[in-house]
Amino acid sequence: GETLTILGLESSCDDTAAAVVRQGAAGTEILSSVVLGQSDLHAAFGGVVPEIAARAHAEKLDIAVRRALETAGVTLARIDAIAVTAGPGLIGGVLAGVMLAKGIAAGAGLPLIGVNHLAAHALTPRLTHALPYPYLMLLVSGGHCQLLTVRGPEAFTRLGGTIDDAPGEAFDKVARLLGLPQPGGPAVEREAAAGCATRFALPRPLLDRPGCDLSFSGLKTAVLRQRDMLIAEQGGLTRQDRADLCAAFQAAVAEVLAEKTRRALAASAAPALAVAGGVAANAAIRAALERVAEDAGAAHVAPPLRLCTDNAAIVAYAGAELFRAGRHDGMDLAARPRWPL
Ligand code: KG4
Ligand code: ZN
Repeated sequence: GETLTILGLESSCDDTAAAVVRQGAAGTEILSSVVLGQSDLHAAFGGVVPEIAARAHAEKLDIAVRRALETAGVTLARIDAIAVTAGPGLIGGVLAGVMLAKGIAAGAGLPLIGVNHLAAHALTPRLTHALPYPYLMLLVSGGHCQLLTVRGPEAFTRLGGTIDDAPGEAFDKVARLLGLPQPGGPAVEREAAAGCATRFALPRPLLDRPGCDLSFSGLKTAVLRQRDMLIAEQGGLTRQDRADLCAAFQAAVAEVLAEKTRRALAASAAPALAVAGGVAANAAIRAALERVAEDAGAAHVAPPLRLCTDNAAIVAYAGAELFRAGRHDGMDLAARPRWPL
């Protein structure tokens, strides 16, 4: 098809982002991708504060868009459509993005495309790899945990997901329990390297139940219980205790993710497994998932980490796919705090 140049906007959580993506016969090129984080604003509160996030998005979106256009070396006159995350996410931030996108679309006379944030994550492997539909997608991050069959830019079948915490959230909580720094995932992985995974017997939540749903909050509680028993017995934790707990936790997460993914791959019969999200950076987990794909005779695709975390290039890419499929929205495009795939 023809070449499309799409401006994307993302503001559904704590990153304010804008990007310009060009898609043509040769593939997709990211001309610019600006991400303005807010973690410094929320650090003191131990989590994202919705009101602070909304105000920061409203202040920074404009800057992000201007920088993205500048870096890409284009003006709005060269943009073919504007794509914006319309949900799910924190309503204030999503609203800020949708309102700005409408303003730009109306002012420049551009088509407007509302993008589901989870769809943007799920389509990411196609941005960097020649990956045909359908494929099985495992999305594992600090906020998400889903197994989806992806059949098209708007065709997803959800096979399972977490019923409580996301795995990254569990890594972060375990790190906090053991006095390790945030983000917890890399810290726990570092400790686990020197640990013995079999000293502590941790549960394998939901593994004995059919289906592809997952659970991680019980695992975190089990780590807490072991920690408190050690403290009661010996007055504190040794470096080795900490390493062994991390190794046991990581092994449990890897095992349940691998087994549920194995089931989902069998159920979907998709020829490829794509894994995305911050937790996919974990070497033990990645290795377990690669083995699952290999055992099933499926291809394994992992997009680069900088595209797995929140950014607007993936929103622009999803927008391009939707636009080619004939989708665009009117000025009545709504911000949807909840928007299941
Ligand atoms: O996708 P992501 O960057 O952000 C969102 O969730 O939006 O994921 C961040 C999560 C954090 O919870 C972090 O602890 C986890 O991914 N993470 C890891 C590793 N690196 C990051 N978890 C396990 N092992 C890692 N090496
Ligand atoms: Zn996200």
